Amino acid sequence: MTIDVSAIRAAYPALADGYAYLDGAAGTQVPASVIQAISAAYAAGLGNSGGEFPASERADAIVAECRAAVAALVGGVPQGVILGPNMTTLTYRLAGTLAKDWRPGDEVVVSRLDHDANVRPWVQAAEQAGAVVRWAEPDPATGELPAAQYGQLVTDRTRLVAVTAASNIIGTRPDVPAITAAARAAGALSYVDGVHATPHGPVDIRALGADFYATSAYKWSGPHIGAVVADPALLATLRPDKLAPADDEVPDRFERGTPPFADLAGVTAAVEHLASLSCAASGTLRERVVASMRAAEQHEQDLFGVLLAGLEAMGHVTIYGKAASRTATAYFNVAGRTPEQVARHLASRKVNVWNGDNYAWELAGVLGIRDSGAAVRAGLVHYNDMSDVTRLLDGVAELAG
Ligand SMILES: Cc1ncc(COP(=O)(O)O)c(C=O)c1O
Repeated sequence: MTIDVSAIRAAYPALADGYAYLDGAAGTQVPASVIQAISAAYAAGLGNSGGEFPASERADAIVAECRAAVAALVGGVPQGVILGPNMTTLTYRLAGTLAKDWRPGDEVVVSRLDHDANVRPWVQAAEQAGAVVRWAEPDPATGELPAAQYGQLVTDRTRLVAVTAASNIIGTRPDVPAITAAARAAGALSYVDGVHATPHGPVDIRALGADFYATSAYKWSGPHIGAVVADPALLATLRPDKLAPADDEVPDRFERGTPPFADLAGVTAAVEHLASLSCAASGTLRERVVASMRAAEQHEQDLFGVLLAGLEAMGHVTIYGKAASRTATAYFNVAGRTPEQVARHLASRKVNVWNGDNYAWELAGVLGIRDSGAAVRAGLVHYNDMSDVTRLLDGVAELAG
């Protein structure tokens, strides 16, 4: 199964501006169908939730459809989908909730491969509870996060293991099923950061063994909304801080205040869009999304092979990470130039890339580049094509010598 990248690109109004958007790891563009869904929600008339009139019923239907769509995307159930402003906010909320029941001497395991949003909320919650933080270390030479170390890191005092499903700078996909299995065997919960992984291939939270799986729609062609997906039975055991009159059902009890209903309609449209990436995909929304994301992953990996080979052939380029399994995300430096200079040069060639640690703050430290501006990130998503890759390589080649 393949994807038709020119047809996909035509669906994204922003891609007509002539730039190569290799900044998708920091946020993707949105297709016209998402923009239309948001606009249509407002145009139809929206009330607040829980009312007895049609505009309110439309808002409630939007929330229900959004939960169902996110569940289909990751293999969860709608009643387990917590919606919120972004992954960071939701992770702080879950950390505060879970830590209510941590005691001095309890332990939490975080990793230095992770984005700081899946590190600091747990470290700070552990500090407040008097719990001990234990660190999983990536191998700086390969960028792998060896799963075997969790055998020692996880003990009968471990309450939570937080780990990413993919590094947002070097793309490493750790062996999450092995890590969550180690957590489960010790009676600990696992919190998997799927923000970078979700746009790059099919996701099955059960196969990952994740008790909680976090994702952000703006990384997969949707609006700026985050979600955490868990088993509703697990959520029912937790008591987040909430307003007295606010709904005490699961997952509503984890959601604070009035949600951006129109944006939630956009999230549903984004999942529909992902499900349509391969015209050959058929069946339920879940089946179509899995087939389409598999095809999109193949497309990204094919382009990534060319991108990596091109960078590797340049003597003035240093690439970080070479994990056996990784997303199509390149992280590199150019001799004699700061990452900022490289990004500025590429912008002058109409190529969007990011420079810096991209909040993978611990990992930039492990790689020894945190204090020197870190590196340049060029990431591929389903709407990138060979001309984006060629323009990146041409722009970097100009910086030789
Ligand atoms: C891997 C990863 N985790 C977490 C985050 C934070 O997500 P949000 O912006 O939704 O808080 C990001 C954002 O770049 C990310 O790439």
